[in-house]
Amino acid sequence: MQIKNICCIGAGYVGGPTMAVIADKCQNINVDVVDIDLKRIQKWNSSNLEELPIYEPGLKEIIQRCRDKNLKFSTSIKEKINNADMIFISVNTPTKKKGFGAGKASDLKWVEACARQVALYASNHTIVVEKSTLPVRTAGVIKEILNESEISTKNSNLKKTFDVLSNPEFLAEGSAINDLISPDRVLIGGENPNAIDCLAQIYQKWVPDEKILRTNLWSSELAKLTSNAFLAQRISSINSISAICEETGADIREVSKAIGSDSRIGSKFLNSGPGFGGSCFKKDILNIVYLSEFFGLPEVASFWESVVRLNDWQQHRISKLIVRKLFGTLSNKKIVILGFAFKANTNDTRESPAKNISKDLLEEGASLVIHDPKVSSDQINFDLKIESTKPLTGGKNISFDLEGKWQKENNLEDCFKDADAVILLTEWDEYKNIKWEKVFGQMRKPSWVFDTRSITNPSEVRKAGLNLWRIGDGL
Ligand code: NAD
Ligand code: UGA
Repeated sequence: MQIKNICCIGAGYVGGPTMAVIADKCQNINVDVVDIDLKRIQKWNSSNLEELPIYEPGLKEIIQRCRDKNLKFSTSIKEKINNADMIFISVNTPTKKKGFGAGKASDLKWVEACARQVALYASNHTIVVEKSTLPVRTAGVIKEILNESEISTKNSNLKKTFDVLSNPEFLAEGSAINDLISPDRVLIGGENPNAIDCLAQIYQKWVPDEKILRTNLWSSELAKLTSNAFLAQRISSINSISAICEETGADIREVSKAIGSDSRIGSKFLNSGPGFGGSCFKKDILNIVYLSEFFGLPEVASFWESVVRLNDWQQHRISKLIVRKLFGTLSNKKIVILGFAFKANTNDTRESPAKNISKDLLEEGASLVIHDPKVSSDQINFDLKIESTKPLTGGKNISFDLEGKWQKENNLEDCFKDADAVILLTEWDEYKNIKWEKVFGQMRKPSWVFDTRSITNPSEVRKAGLNLWRIGDGL
């Protein structure tokens, strides 16, 4: 079967960039990305490429090349499903908020809704690809829904048949386009080798065949969860050691380098910081915790749960020590938050450590000035969920809660006047070049820098006259 028309349901951080790269690499395939969110689709179609809903280095260039040629964004879900030989399900799978498994299990209502739409509107033979990250055995649920449709059309002219594949995505935000163009591996799980080959042929246009791994459905689903769990586990491991460094005089950067030089351990994902953020690590580990409990494996559940607990602890530990260093109170203190995204080179704030740390500081009564090159004040407002009790002043977005208040500042140089402390929370490049001497001149004394990302040069900061706290620095 030759794939001519792809439909991707879900135009988010995965669906958008992944389909853009497929369209760019396979110009003989029509790629339609559909979503129920009209505003998001309008942004994907915006003539101003700065308005795309997602910021990813290299993305706008591909959109410019392919959009309205073989890559289209729309809300025509029914029509595009009907037309497709292959459908990617790339919708959100957040942690359930209510009901059985709340706080741990993934909420599969969007995936189920997609499967039902596919069952209803697909025609002829369709390969359905799970791109979303899903609990093991979700493909079974999708197959069951599609199976009903196969049975009901068996003897009609509109006969429908389906194959279900698992093809989890391993891209990281901020490097999504590079990750998609040069993946470490592409994983395809399935039962029908012909369907697996159809999908493999698409990737073979730019990925060497030895990097395309074929497994059964359940291994593929579990490998995705496990991959994220292992990465997150390394971060919690190194963050736990950062706290020991601070007590003992060891330096976490030296410890990371020393252990990472062991080829069995490797050097990646050993940067200590304010804890991992992003939409997936926490959710995917909690999913493993839920599955382990469900299958009667409480020891396994508690092992993985501790990775998330350590991560939450690391964030609050940092908030607490900031309050302690600033004489135990943040009332009437101006604190500059540098970076609100969960990592550099993305506008995504989901589970961002900056969000939790900012909330902690606001609860202590701080006045925050927040800077981020890509996160909008509307997003910060949404994230901090603070009711605005006073009118906006001076054109700036200022919100107040009972204790603290915050405002977004777009110009980095204008952040520091009369500030008591600067907290570096996202490793944006522009924060690496801050002239600390100049900053010190503008701040109230004693002035503090809290570097949670190890991006400052400590001797420069101290020489400028500032007090410096660095993650995992015991000196
Ligand atoms: P997202 O929230 O950015 O995008 C999901 C999109 O799906 C939204 O725009 C939403 O409106 C749309 N949607 C939901 N239900 C729909 C329906 N029935 N019909 C049409 N559209 C619908 O999510 P994301 O970050 O792209 O993540 C998607 C999946 O990929 C998740 O399972 C996630 O775990 C996984 N994943 C994410 C990343 C990442 O870096 N964000 C990386 C790898 C895997
Ligand atoms: C992560 C995985 O890296 C991807 O492979 C996966 O596809 C994706 O999750 C997903 O399933 O959503 P992402 O969350 O986008 O990607 O970004 P990462 O680079 O993994 O960073 C996650 C968090 O860990 C960030 O907050 C980052 O600052 C933090 N981190 C990362 C550290 O604190 N230390 C490190 O050494 C590395």
